[in-house]
Amino acid sequence: MGFNVNSLSDKVLMSNNVGIPCLGFGTYKIDDDQQVYDMVITALEVGYRHIDTAAFYMNEAGVGRAINDFIATTKIAREDIFVTSKVWKTERGYDKTIKAFEKTMDEIGLDYIDLFLVHWPASLTFDDDWKEINRDTWRGMMDIYKSGKAKAIGVSNFLSHHLDTIIDMEIQPMVDQIEISPGFRQQDTVDYCNEHGIIVEAWSPLGRGRSLNHPLILELAEKYKKDSAQIIIRWDLQNGIIPLPKSINKGRVVSNADVFDFEISKEDMTKLNAMERYGDSGHHPDEAW
Ligand code: A2P
Repeated sequence: MGFNVNSLSDKVLMSNNVGIPCLGFGTYKIDDDQQVYDMVITALEVGYRHIDTAAFYMNEAGVGRAINDFIATTKIAREDIFVTSKVWKTERGYDKTIKAFEKTMDEIGLDYIDLFLVHWPASLTFDDDWKEINRDTWRGMMDIYKSGKAKAIGVSNFLSHHLDTIIDMEIQPMVDQIEISPGFRQQDTVDYCNEHGIIVEAWSPLGRGRSLNHPLILELAEKYKKDSAQIIIRWDLQNGIIPLPKSINKGRVVSNADVFDFEISKEDMTKLNAMERYGDSGHHPDEAW
């Protein structure tokens, strides 16, 4: 169920029929205002049309300023750029979620955002009433969506049992952004999302760099005359997953997007999909605070 896409700006459809560009630029840990501004401008110049931020990243203002300036100085329209932000763990529940969204909108300085996500689920490990908390948060998300100021809503780090807490509600999440890298496929959650028409995005697709030196990735990089990151990003696309690689290096921002001129064979996809556990962060939503 891979994507049929040929460029960075090609979109896939979410369940509400809104398009989402197939590859995004991640901004986690780029928290210096000028640096995030410069990197988002660079990414947009390279052709990325999908930028991923979050309240927790403390960089929404720089992201929004870069998008506004890029629109003002090019012929690219706001509608051609897709921007995501997220509500942090401390802001769960209906009222706090609504307020957090307002703060995000103030920070980012855009009339609307394309996708707003619940950053982490409430979990039984930390809250007896975790199910109700997730439902309350999701009620806020649904009202945000109905206001038109977020063109789509979704979740992040929700595994199937977390998704189960909200899946029967009026509006289902359109996206689930989870950690995925070769060696950490989270296939149960991906299957759940595929069954429910939820688009899956991969955070830390390169295992924050850890995955790049795995022998199989190196072997395939050699075979396809690409680099390790390109193999991994292409693997995501061929699995129907939107990767969100992050880099503060312009050359790597460019090369991470150069993944539309080759195809990984079925046999090699099978090998990658069968990789043993490797390179993940260890941040389990039921364990990490
Ligand atoms: P840098 O920002 O210096 O390029 P992930 O997206 O999985 O979180 O990984 C991000 C990490 O991987 C960052 O440390 C980033 O460093 C590094 N990285 C991103 N793209 C590449 C690439 N093409 N080659 C090597 N390292 C990369």
